[in-house]
Amino acid sequence: TDAHTPSLRTPIVAVLGHVDHGKTSLLDKVRGSAVIEGEAGAITQHIGATAVPLEVISEIAGDLVEPDDFDLPGLLFIDTPGHHSFTTLRSRGGALADIAILVVDVNDGFQPQTREALEILQRSETPFIVAANKVDTVPGWNANEDTPIQSTYDQQSERVQGAVDTALYEIIGQLSEAGFSADLYWRVQNFQRNVGVVPVSAMTGEGVPDLLAVMMGLSQRYMKAEMEIDVAGPGVGTVLEVKEEKGFGTTIDTVLYDGTIRADDRLVVGGTNDPIVTDVRALLQPRPLAEIRTESRFERVDEVSAASGIKIAAPDLGDAMAGAPVRVVRDRPVEDVIAEVRAEL
Ligand code: GTP
Ligand code: MG
Repeated sequence: TDAHTPSLRTPIVAVLGHVDHGKTSLLDKVRGSAVIEGEAGAITQHIGATAVPLEVISEIAGDLVEPDDFDLPGLLFIDTPGHHSFTTLRSRGGALADIAILVVDVNDGFQPQTREALEILQRSETPFIVAANKVDTVPGWNANEDTPIQSTYDQQSERVQGAVDTALYEIIGQLSEAGFSADLYWRVQNFQRNVGVVPVSAMTGEGVPDLLAVMMGLSQRYMKAEMEIDVAGPGVGTVLEVKEEKGFGTTIDTVLYDGTIRADDRLVVGGTNDPIVTDVRALLQPRPLAEIRTESRFERVDEVSAASGIKIAAPDLGDAMAGAPVRVVRDRPVEDVIAEVRAEL
């Protein structure tokens, strides 16, 4: 039997917002890869998960994130699609999240799926910040690549600063109409009570250090207690996607938010009919910073701990359902775990 091993898990961050407002681009900037290139019509059709370790966050954020100030291991980002037809995927991403980034195009302001995302966050009581994206498109903007927002803002002309202010206060006003007390993030004292707005550009990287620093700080300050898990306990997660994988048959892309899954574990997975009882055949982990959705070279691992995105290959997953729970059985009667899964469906 396992000793109780308390540990702090990675907070799960959902990235939500209207179509084309720059969710995937923001994550791309962080990943330094180009998932966007491979997307059909540049529309995100599925949820993906990307793990960003604290060291990488600290590299990007520079002085804004000192690794010694944090004991959370990083952030696990979940990208969601903004297109109006993907409400279920957005809800799934929002419900899974510990915290969220609501991406709003600074010129476009609030749009239908911005409002829908706000309702999802409100319903699930998920703390969030707003990334006012595409500041580089404000006419006359002079980019200072990858710099914190205040230093680059200070270097803009008065006219440009005025245009940025107007756009930001428009967004703050719209948040206020939706019932949220919001302000520019550096004026926010309590991120649980007020929504911080962070001006960013996914294109030039300006403000990205701030965005990561705020997400990390918010997690460390308010989420820490909820991040305490028994890492060695039986794993609990949610199916993001059910996928055929060459050589593995049907697999489930899963976000694990509690405990551990091992390569010899028995699982109960929510299905279209009865819960599915199956044995793990392979745990396939995308490399750090890789995107589970586009990653083709997985590493076979013996064990994975929360929070992480993991592809699970196992027999009989044909009826598995996106959004359904996944639970490791381990030393418990399988009937109990089946009952737990049934209760969640
Ligand atoms: P969906 O997944 O379809 O909801 O869209 P998305 O929110 O993921 O938007 P995506 O990242 O695909 O970006 C949409 C378009 O906006 C792309 O052409 C990006 O290059 C562009 N874009 C995103 N962020 C910025 C930015 O900060 N500045 C500029 N100039 N363009 C941006
Ligand atoms: Mg996208």
